[in-house]
Amino acid sequence: MQELSQKHLLGIKDLTADDIHLIFETADSFKEVINRPIKKVPSLRDITIANVFFENSTRTKLSFELAEKRLSADIINFSSSNSSVKKGETLLDTVNNILAMKVDMVVMRHASPGAPHFLSKHIDANIVNAGDGTHEHPTQALLDTFSIREKLGDVQGKKVLIVGDILHSRVALSNIFALQKLGAEVKVCGPKTLLPKYIETLGVQVELDLKKALNWCDVANVLRIQLERQQIKYFPSLREYSLFYGVNKALLDGLDKEIVVMHPGPINRGVELNSDVADSDHAIILDQVENGVAIRMAVLYLLAGKGAG
Ligand code: CP
Repeated sequence: MQELSQKHLLGIKDLTADDIHLIFETADSFKEVINRPIKKVPSLRDITIANVFFENSTRTKLSFELAEKRLSADIINFSSSNSSVKKGETLLDTVNNILAMKVDMVVMRHASPGAPHFLSKHIDANIVNAGDGTHEHPTQALLDTFSIREKLGDVQGKKVLIVGDILHSRVALSNIFALQKLGAEVKVCGPKTLLPKYIETLGVQVELDLKKALNWCDVANVLRIQLERQQIKYFPSLREYSLFYGVNKALLDGLDKEIVVMHPGPINRGVELNSDVADSDHAIILDQVENGVAIRMAVLYLLAGKGAG
C-alpha cells in the first residue's frame, strides 16, 4: 500500500505533491462510497478519534465527524467552551487526559498558530490540524484543490486567484502551498492592508484591481473578512470593502470569460460575496463541502495506516 510521507497532517507545507495525489486518489474512492445507499465502510473500526475544538466551527467539525462515522471509527467530541479549560487546564493536560482514555488520533482546531505542532512534539497519537489561528488549514486546501481538479480536470497549469483578507487567512496560506505543489499559478487580490508584506516571497503575484485579477483567473477563491481577528481597522467600512473587493454578478458578467467561484465558508453575504454569485452556477461552494467529507476520510484513513508511536 502507498503511504503518506508524514505521520501527522500539520500543514500542507510538510506534504509532497505525491502525498497530495495519494490523498486525492483515496478521496476519489471514498467519494464513490459516500454516494452509495450504504455510505459506511469498516476501515477504521478499531480506531478512536478525538475531535478537539478550541475555536468555533460548523463545516470542519461536522465534516470530520461524518468522515469518522463513515469510516466506522469510535469518536469523542471536545469543545473548549464548556470544558475544564475554563478552569485553567492547559492544552497539553487536556489532550493527555483525552489520550489516557486510549485515543489513537486527535483532530484539533486552535486559535494559536503552531498549537498542533507543539502537541505533536509531546504526544504519540496522529494529529490532524483542523485550523491553527492564522497559520494553516490543510484539509480545507486539500478539499479546495480536489474541487478544482473535479471541476476543471486538473490543477496543473490553472490560474487561481485568492481574493480578500489574505493577512488573517489560514485558508490562503494552505491553498498557496497546495496550488503551487500541484503546478497552478497563484495570484492574490485585496486591499494592501490585508496582504501580508512577505506575500511575494511565497512566489505568488499581487493584483490590487479586482476586475483585472478576475479577468486573469480560471478560478477565484473568495475569502471571508475575518473581523474577529482584526484588532484595528484595515479598511474604512464594510460598504467600501464590498464596493472595491466584493464579488457580484455584474462584475462577473463584465468579464471576458466564465470563471469558477469558490468560498471556504462561512460567507459574509453582501460583503465579500453577493448571493447572486454564491447561489449561481458559477459557484461550487456546496461541492467543496461535499468533497470535504471524502478528503477527510482519505486523510484519516491514510494517517491511520501510518500508526501512532
Ligand atoms: N471552512 C471552515 O473552516 O469553516 P468552519 O469554520 O465552519 O469550520
